[in-house]
Amino acid sequence: MKTVHSVAELREAVGQGRRNGASIGFVPTMGNLHMGHISLIERARQQCGFVVASIFVNPLQFGPNEDLATYPRTLAADQEKLEQAGCDLLFAPSVEEMYPDGMTLQTVVSVPAVSEGLCGASRPGHFDGVSTVVSKLFNMVQPDVAVFGQKDYQQLAVIRTMVRDLNIPVQIIGQPTARAEDGLALSSRNGYLTEQERTTAPAIYRTLQRLGQAIEAGREDHQTLVDQGLSELQAAGLRPDYLEIRDADTLGEPRASSDRLLIVVAAYLGKTRLLDNLVIERR
Ligand code: PAJ
Repeated sequence: MKTVHSVAELREAVGQGRRNGASIGFVPTMGNLHMGHISLIERARQQCGFVVASIFVNPLQFGPNEDLATYPRTLAADQEKLEQAGCDLLFAPSVEEMYPDGMTLQTVVSVPAVSEGLCGASRPGHFDGVSTVVSKLFNMVQPDVAVFGQKDYQQLAVIRTMVRDLNIPVQIIGQPTARAEDGLALSSRNGYLTEQERTTAPAIYRTLQRLGQAIEAGREDHQTLVDQGLSELQAAGLRPDYLEIRDADTLGEPRASSDRLLIVVAAYLGKTRLLDNLVIERR
């Protein structure tokens, strides 16, 4: 696997892949790769002859009091994992390469409606940072296919909406969430947890499953279910940021006609903010 750091080298290497007749698959990441990221690479590999990953800890999507400075940066280990997963090219740009004119941008990409509420409410500007950097990366790589995790469900919805609204010629694939054996969704931020916190963390998935089963059993009293779920999380030692039941396709309030419901949760464990969700088919 080749690693490049500049847009010029990236274009050259992708161009070569394309001239060889391969379709281009792309997996954007912030690095510190785990099996969740690797499952996205493998998904891209299934469909595309040439797979590109990016590692870029994007300052634009971090709030002033968030973990930009401490976000784990593990390039050598990441390169090894990507190589093993059959990735062809890694793009690992510097902040200067991505934002040569500094962090005050003239142009931003914003997807307001889907970015509102849920994580958008607690992380103002976060999704503008994501949609802006992902549209830049799409223009740099020009992939045929890009794979994102369903773990960041709202992010996936923002990207799908952006691609549709701006006619970006890329097929977006959503890959199911990779979990530890005890159900905890894999995340680079799990590394922040103490041993004690790590034993508490699976309560998030247990709560999602319990709510999911209740909905599958026909319960319609969503507010009661959410209130019970919040109490459960608190009792386990978590500080819920939100727990909500939404229409999985629109992210709006569920309707009688909603075929798929999204149960989505963000909760703090100590200083770490954990995110997870479950989609329930209603019929
Ligand atoms: P990052 O958190 O590194 O995640 C990169 C991709 O991996 C995202 O599509 C995310 O949804 C997916 N992912 C993370 N954990 C996963 C898991 N347990 N199972 C399956 N997929 C998982 O998301 C970002 O980076 C950034 O916002 C980015 C899109 C790169 C823009 O900066």
